Amino acid sequence: MNLKIGIIKGDGIGPEIVTEAQKVLNKIAETYGHTCEYTELLLGGASIDVHGVPLTDETVAAAKQCDAVLMGSIGGDAKTSPWYQLEPSKRPEAGLLRIRKELNLFANLRPAVLYDELKGACPLKESITEGGFDMMIMRELTGGLYFGERKTVEVDGVLTAFDSLTYNEEEIRRIAKRAFDIAMKRRKKVTSVDKANVLDSSRLWRKVVEEVAEEYPEVTLEHMLVDNCAMQLVKDPKQFDVILTENMFGDILSDEASMVTGSIGMLASASLNETKFGLYEPSGGSAPDIAGKGIANPIATILSAAMMLRFSFDLDQEADAIEKAVEKVLKEGYRTIDIMSEGKTQIGTAGMGDLIASFIRR
Ligand code: IPM
Ligand code: MG
Repeated sequence: MNLKIGIIKGDGIGPEIVTEAQKVLNKIAETYGHTCEYTELLLGGASIDVHGVPLTDETVAAAKQCDAVLMGSIGGDAKTSPWYQLEPSKRPEAGLLRIRKELNLFANLRPAVLYDELKGACPLKESITEGGFDMMIMRELTGGLYFGERKTVEVDGVLTAFDSLTYNEEEIRRIAKRAFDIAMKRRKKVTSVDKANVLDSSRLWRKVVEEVAEEYPEVTLEHMLVDNCAMQLVKDPKQFDVILTENMFGDILSDEASMVTGSIGMLASASLNETKFGLYEPSGGSAPDIAGKGIANPIATILSAAMMLRFSFDLDQEADAIEKAVEKVLKEGYRTIDIMSEGKTQIGTAGMGDLIASFIRR
């Protein structure tokens, strides 16, 4: 099979971690008889440096020609990078928001898994994490506060900023369906997170989610207020299977969920639309402080490539092979610095990519 993959290396550690994921993909292609046809796409700071804007129309068109896009990370240090001297709509993050919208990537899947081998890195007490946890955050990605009307104006001589949070029932229905579909393949529980005690958008969210739930009698649905959810994630993370939530809540809760695993450098993510197309990226950021040092953990990006093979190309065996290779590297005691612990062998970004590629088996 010819895999047409868009590659967004991006900023910070992005180029380093994507290079390792490509190494692993190339090994998969060689082992299973596929070809990878890569198209490099510029996004974020890397695009600003060349084109003056974080995303061009040409890049959007080129991305649409691909079957899937694998991305590193975008953005720089807001204090020191010249990108942040630009007006907000020209900064790196604006490019990411625009590509999500242009490609209609409304479903953002963010798994948070406690790896057995890495339990030591989890900041929660053992009594809380015993037995591990494995949740999937389904974050709505193209609506809500991120894409609502916004402005800053003077009202009676006082500077006043407005952001609006809008959801229509169709936007809620399509993401809720995705969450229930995923739950059917997992432990059949959906926790829908909202702020229905305050927000109208949340009350509509709840109503539509309940309607969708009727089509999935096997799935248990519970509603949880977002403040309580933030607390429950550290109090009892085991209770969660699929967390379904709107854009802004999902942004915040997914950082929290990944932190409690203790290994954000391990977590992949996928942003999907109605078709097989998806954009796959590690959950962590561009980490400008360690960029270029060869120490970043490429595993989240490598696992994002596995998610891509599974969701966009239906190549389950190949995806399994990557996940097994990652397990093997951890079992054998190899660690990048972020997940290092006593008695293990510390290696760098390229060393990790080489080892995982070498462990790929048919
Ligand atoms: C994320 C990031 C982005 C978001 C930023 C970079 C705009 O935090 O993917 O979670 O808020 O969606
Ligand atoms: Mg975020």
